[in-house]
Amino acid sequence: MTTLDDREQMRSNTELIGRADVHDLEAVLSVVGHYDEEGHHGVPNNCPAEFTWDYNKGSKPSLDKLYEKAKKAQWNAQSDLDWSIEVDQEAVVIANADANPAQMSFTPDVVAGTVLEKWDEQRFIEFGVQNQNWLLSQFMHGEQGALICTAKIVETVPWIDAKYYAATQVMDEARHVEVFSKYLDEKLSGHYPMNAHLGMLLDDIVADSRWDMTYLGMQIMVEGLALAAFGFIHMMTTEPLLKKLLRYVMADEARHVAFGVLSLQEYYQELSAAELRERQEFAYEAAVRMKDRMAMQEVWERMEVPTSDVIKVMQAGPEQDDFQILLFSKIVPNLRKLGLLDAADGWLRQKFTEMGAIAFEHLSDSTEEEDAFADGSPAERGVA
Ligand SMILES: [Fe+2]
Ligand SMILES: [Fe+2]
Repeated sequence: MTTLDDREQMRSNTELIGRADVHDLEAVLSVVGHYDEEGHHGVPNNCPAEFTWDYNKGSKPSLDKLYEKAKKAQWNAQSDLDWSIEVDQEAVVIANADANPAQMSFTPDVVAGTVLEKWDEQRFIEFGVQNQNWLLSQFMHGEQGALICTAKIVETVPWIDAKYYAATQVMDEARHVEVFSKYLDEKLSGHYPMNAHLGMLLDDIVADSRWDMTYLGMQIMVEGLALAAFGFIHMMTTEPLLKKLLRYVMADEARHVAFGVLSLQEYYQELSAAELRERQEFAYEAAVRMKDRMAMQEVWERMEVPTSDVIKVMQAGPEQDDFQILLFSKIVPNLRKLGLLDAADGWLRQKFTEMGAIAFEHLSDSTEEEDAFADGSPAERGVA
């Protein structure tokens, strides 16, 4: 059991996330992502590769089952989606706003006293267009993070069934990078660099020397959030190609998150309180980085809105905050299933309570998602 001494040794917010107050928007907005000038980005990878001589397929039955499902669930990004659909980005921004009036948080009282007060309709549409370019760019960069992390899991996880399954996920993630990149190039009007907070998180995940941290950071945290975000955008968008594309990606992501829970569940039962506490801190740091990226400072910068105005607008628009919290709806039940909410005297439960996200803990976890064990590809199943 965790003792008081252990709790006192826990790292502070400043040590974990670089600021004392998790809600300090000025600190969040002060970090803006830019492309590395050399056009690439290297991260040291400290996790040893692991051979196993135990080739006994099916030793981990739940992972074996997932692997067999994954082989039949593959789809083809080029031929299963209708890329002939024309996308008029400005028309999509207007149609989405009309279809989701509650999400339009730029009411006169929200923009009062900021530069947005002087924006005409065209400027708001431009903001919506930039918003799409930014969001899809972040999806694409995050997918590349998943591709790299999953290739790493193939190397580092000790069990053959997990190596087999992870190999199918590498293929899935290649397809996801491919579809978001193609959508950005052919249907939208510009790219954004990786958001600074997302970049810090992915660097931390890749650089960690413990194999389970790749899973915890990627499959549980990043992909858990992605699944909720894709679901939200899928529900909101009126654009048919993006809708279908997201639905197909979500079918794969459901499997990926289930892979994370199934792989870590047993392993975490064997860890000591001190080891679990390190995992809790890692999960908390990841949650904060992902919440921070939603401030989308790269868009505000491009629209030339000063930070003080961004803070005013963000604090006046409660819907945005609700959306940020909703993004944790997949993560919290999975952390609970892994025992991480309640380890170390419920330290992580307390952190998620402070963030306002604990209400989701009793939703079903990702091993119960229908898509995760569905038969056939989404194209064959005719999912919509
Ligand atoms: Fe993905
Ligand atoms: Fe994924």
